Amino acid sequence: MRNSLKDIIRPLPALAVSLLNSDLADLASVVKKLERIGIKILHLDVMDGHFVPNLTFGPPLIKCLRKHTNAFLTAHLMIENPQDYISQYMDLGINLIIFHYESLHKKMINKLINKIKKSQIFCGISVNPETDIKNIFSFLEMIDLVLIMTVNPGFGGQRIIKKCINKIKALKDYKIKNNLDFVISCDGGINEYNINKVLTSGCEIPVVGNAIFGSSDYIKKVKIFKELTNSLKFHRYLKK
Ligand code: DX5
Ligand code: ZN
Repeated sequence: MRNSLKDIIRPLPALAVSLLNSDLADLASVVKKLERIGIKILHLDVMDGHFVPNLTFGPPLIKCLRKHTNAFLTAHLMIENPQDYISQYMDLGINLIIFHYESLHKKMINKLINKIKKSQIFCGISVNPETDIKNIFSFLEMIDLVLIMTVNPGFGGQRIIKKCINKIKALKDYKIKNNLDFVISCDGGINEYNINKVLTSGCEIPVVGNAIFGSSDYIKKVKIFKELTNSLKFHRYLKK
């Protein structure tokens, strides 16, 4: 039987580090340092310049990166028509592929989910801030994770859109009511001051990028976020 994502990523909540704003020319050393201090989930932002107005990296970089880390690799695909490119992402050693609800025709979504899950890769669906969460309800039985975008996708270092926090709560309520097993994750604008709200609203995997790599001492910051996520000891940091 297929493992559930919760069997692989334990305990929850767990921090995922987005590498988008890290030193991409020194990625191998960055991921090794992160792994050494106990980071288990890495978040890779794939952008195509069409679905979002920014371009990052794709399969060749992910394939190379896999050789340098044993971490759980998540590919967040911000690309149009992911079903046309998905085969290229299957053999790279990615553990979880997340596609956007808005990036393909609704009729194609079930097929894409099945294709990803058949390959033993976990499958996530992401929703943009303006997308009503109800749109994805019919897919949730098949899905391992929902990524709620708390900023408009495309760039690191944006401010969190506060109304998205209500979506986390709505999704958590729906999940409990329907006895579903997917994991709730959130991406964009998460910092030391709002992570408390994000986690207590129901987010199990907060994705943090710029609040870590925008700092002059990113290792120190990662440790802080790890502690905030693991132990929910927020107040000590909020006072600083
Ligand atoms: C935005 C990306 C995010 C981002 C992380 O399109 O999907 O993963 O890099 O957000 P920040 O940098 O705000 O923590
Ligand atoms: Zn992302």
